[in-house]
Amino acid sequence: MAEPTKQNWTTVDDYLAETLVGHDAALEAALAAQREAGLPAIEVSPLAGKLLSLLVRISGARRVLEIGTLGGYSTIWMARALPADGLVVTIEAEPRNAEIARASIATAGLAERVEVRLGRGEHVLPALEGAEPFDLVFIDADKESNTLYLDWAARLGRPGTVVVVDNVGRDGDVADPASDAHGVQGTRAGLALLGEDPRFDATALQTVGVKGWDGVAIAVLV
Ligand code: DHB
Ligand code: MG
Repeated sequence: MAEPTKQNWTTVDDYLAETLVGHDAALEAALAAQREAGLPAIEVSPLAGKLLSLLVRISGARRVLEIGTLGGYSTIWMARALPADGLVVTIEAEPRNAEIARASIATAGLAERVEVRLGRGEHVLPALEGAEPFDLVFIDADKESNTLYLDWAARLGRPGTVVVVDNVGRDGDVADPASDAHGVQGTRAGLALLGEDPRFDATALQTVGVKGWDGVAIAVLV
């Protein structure tokens, strides 16, 4: 049996991605553009991007809200999975990231299916109130604000809306109530909300792979 090392998780992730996901010019160009621009390499893995696209399809989502665009990699995955009249609204706080994401989304031929809103979630989210509800919400931004983002997901969704939260494993630190590791307290607060707030029905799965040891929470609005 192989040892459970990051190197071996990566080998297995690469094998699964090669077998199930394959290669895609637009997605690889988006990654190259964000690497070139020096953005942190913290986008979702190819297998996780495929999971997001499958969740969009399984849920029949037409309107997707993403909080945390980075360079648009996950955005492209989800936008691709939408029907022709579908829309991703994606929120990004860093102007440089938003600029790179907009360019990659346009190169992927998805400019009409994606709106990149520049600003911090707390400022941009209230402006989305009153529009049609979102069918799927992907939260992948500053972890300190996860409870705020989850509250907005509940307000901007409808019963049946799928809510996905990235990075809920945090190298195992998430189980340590005293941890001061980056993002852990915000992640824990978000998970506590998912467990206690009657608007959500949620679970979470740990993941290992190219991004190390982490996890993803998946919830539905009640
Ligand atoms: C970090 C953020 C992410 O969204 C991620 O997927 C991995 C790491 C971070 O801030 O360290
Ligand atoms: Mg993430």
